[in-house]
Amino acid sequence: MTFEAEKWNGRYQQEGRHWQTSQPALLLQQFAGELPTSGLALDAAGGVGVNGLFLAERGLHVIVLDVSEVGLRLAKEQAAARKLWLETAVVDLSHPWLPPDAFDVILNFRFLERAAFPVYRQALKPGGWLLFETFLQTDEPVDQPAYFLQPGELAAAFADFEIIRAAEKAYQGRRSGNLKTTAQLVARKRQ
Ligand SMILES: C[S@@+](CC[C@H](N)C(=O)[O-])C[C@H]1O[C@@H](n2cnc3c(N)ncnc32)[C@H](O)[C@@H]1O
Repeated sequence: MTFEAEKWNGRYQQEGRHWQTSQPALLLQQFAGELPTSGLALDAAGGVGVNGLFLAERGLHVIVLDVSEVGLRLAKEQAAARKLWLETAVVDLSHPWLPPDAFDVILNFRFLERAAFPVYRQALKPGGWLLFETFLQTDEPVDQPAYFLQPGELAAAFADFEIIRAAEKAYQGRRSGNLKTTAQLVARKRQ
């Protein structure tokens, strides 16, 4: 088992209920009305699947990928309890592969694996939606710089898409109270 899988399995064993009761990402809620209500969605590094379940509730078939089988088990339990179409697979996205032209929507929240960028690009159907939000490197030193986007990096990586929202925002973490900065991208693969 990888270090990440062990770390996240432990977290979800301890705090799974907390993660399950958190709200879907605000960015996803804001754009929900514009997203398709049928077809196939991917929730990449989806954890306990809060964002994926939100899309499944709106009619999409959802596949959640994550390195943590504990998180994915909680996602499956929720889907079964709510009678939603949601499948899961344990996948290490540091070695990503996805079928081409397969997904109507791809979600990537609070996770960064740059090797997945070209894989998301080819896995989206033409016209498919990418909703991506994760942490941005600021002037503060961080332990793991590879987990943080550089300013402008996300929008530049998908500059060939139709960009609907590209923003970099600071907000106060709900649990820690610390100031966090994220980059957001909502973009559609060109037809
Ligand atoms: C901060 S959580 C975010 C979960 C979910 N996307 C959300 O926003 O609630 C980060 C997730 O990335 C997953 N993860 C970490 N490294 C991974 C990898 N190499 N491949 C797939 N998933 C990974 C963790 O298991 C965890 O579920």
